[in-house]
Amino acid sequence: MTTTLVDNIGLLVTHDVERPQREHAAVLIENGRVAWVGDAETAPAADERIDAEGGCVIPGFVDSHTHLVFAGDRADEFAARMAGDRYEAGGIRRTVRLTREATDEQLLSNATRLVAEARAQGTTTIEIKSGYGLTVAGEARSVRLASTLTSEVTYLGAHIVPEGIDREAYIERVTGDMLDACAPYSRWIDVFCETGAFTVDESRRILEAGIARGLGARVHAGQLGESAGVRLAVELGAASVDHCTFLSADDIEALAGSDTVATLLPGVEFSTRQPWPDARRLLDAGATVALASDCNPGSSFTTSMPFCMAIAVRDMGMTPAEALWSATAGGAAALRRTDIGHLGVGARADLVVLDAPSYVHFAYRPGVPLVRRVL
Ligand code: NIG
Ligand code: FE
Repeated sequence: MTTTLVDNIGLLVTHDVERPQREHAAVLIENGRVAWVGDAETAPAADERIDAEGGCVIPGFVDSHTHLVFAGDRADEFAARMAGDRYEAGGIRRTVRLTREATDEQLLSNATRLVAEARAQGTTTIEIKSGYGLTVAGEARSVRLASTLTSEVTYLGAHIVPEGIDREAYIERVTGDMLDACAPYSRWIDVFCETGAFTVDESRRILEAGIARGLGARVHAGQLGESAGVRLAVELGAASVDHCTFLSADDIEALAGSDTVATLLPGVEFSTRQPWPDARRLLDAGATVALASDCNPGSSFTTSMPFCMAIAVRDMGMTPAEALWSATAGGAAALRRTDIGHLGVGARADLVVLDAPSYVHFAYRPGVPLVRRVL
């Protein structure tokens, strides 16, 4: 068994409750887990040594919301939005057409490239949703391909009702044959509960079918307007409700009194020119907040968690420390994981060494590649 000491850390963020940050620190890794954390001067001996060169070390980012199994891009829609067009859920159908035409190899190679892109920017855990197949075979293929890249796979047959099928027939399929075909590859079920996608009653039916099959629930809600989808997520004990751009006071109270994480996706507001979600309001009320990329070709084509953090600090009322927590421990909470998102003893040794003295630099030096090494 090889032991590795990450030494000469200028600032270490562990998210430990008692001592969340320490200066001049070191971390001992054994069997892929954090075995010891402490002052660099008192570090134990190890087989290997990694010199952090006085840089900051943080837990790897946990990106709890992406849609990486797709083909094609929609840069023209982005350009049109920047010129004044509105974002509409219907654009999804365009990616569905291109995804259906693509081979397994093309889809896997695109998703693999995006996972590598995310990793190079410090993401060490990534959730991947289906949702651009929207046939039994197409969704099963998406979750199967996703499962070769991550254990956090989400079945999103309920992304939108595709062309050429009656609404009720499609919902029956999503809760029947399609669920049967996708459940073996999935940990989660998700629904796009929004105008132009699925209603609250339809979302409830779909989520309940997934829960009955042993899947955990996640919900897309509050992206284009306030929606009872947020309270549905809380009521069903969903791990997370994602977007939360538009929230009523009741929604915030419900989230604050629950185990459902509010996951904010700043890349979407950047790319659709919608108002920024109000992280401060959620945090002040006591809700658990995560940040995720929502990487997809329509509403947010970024894999960069540092970019999301920079927006959260600049425009959503988060402090740099809160943004870092939400991008790591918050993402872990949104996936109901306790082994990632922090660097306490026993955690997975997913560490990111920065070419910067502090994580504050993610917002202070936006757009600059600050990740020196990902373990
Ligand atoms: O999370 N909101 C639903 N799904 C994606 C958008 C997908 C698309 O436009 O292709 C999202 O923003
Ligand atoms: Fe999404």
